[in-house]
Amino acid sequence: IKVGVLISGSGSNLQSIIDRIEDGSLSADIVCVISNNAGAFGLERARKHTIPALHMDHRQFAGRSAYDAALVETLQQYGVELVILAGFMRIITPVLIDAFPHAIMNIHPAILPAFPGLHAQRQALDHGARISGCTVHFVDAGTDTGPIIIQAAVPVLDDDTEESLSARIQVEEHRVYPRAIQLYAEGRLSVEGRRVIITPPVP
Ligand code: GRF
Repeated sequence: IKVGVLISGSGSNLQSIIDRIEDGSLSADIVCVISNNAGAFGLERARKHTIPALHMDHRQFAGRSAYDAALVETLQQYGVELVILAGFMRIITPVLIDAFPHAIMNIHPAILPAFPGLHAQRQALDHGARISGCTVHFVDAGTDTGPIIIQAAVPVLDDDTEESLSARIQVEEHRVYPRAIQLYAEGRLSVEGRRVIITPPVP
């Protein structure tokens, strides 16, 4: 399956996907990585693995829809079948969502529907939650509201900081995101209303 990855920053999730492809446990091909931010370290990670790495500056477009139209054009040029949001810090519009129906995934650092939006780890700490984690979901028009594919939980410890909790959650992110992509690549994910049904593997 041809995957396009959208990032804005470090790209540690991108790296986990690259690593699983290289060790043979993920059957996917990253055909392009796009960042809205020129300084994103994830662009360097991509180039190191000879993956086309593009900077598309959102500030050079008239608005969100115009930017998303340019993203769609580029993703389609590369033949992308599945779009992976991996720390892409932009609100996306129906222009992008409708071009890839049930074919855009996001990872969020909380157990949705708890703590959507920005600073999810801070929200969990401020709320006094004892458990948090991460969620891989299909993207719909809302913020972190789409059908849930995989979740993984971690404890929140009394002495946690935003950094220590984020690090514990990221270990799980790096495990579940490649797994969700592999399930998609195997054709095992189907969306029924709000729910994602995972078909058992063919023996
Ligand atoms: C992750 O915490 C992810 O849950 C959130 O953005 C962060 C991206 O981290 N959506 P990285 O750039 O993959 O290291």
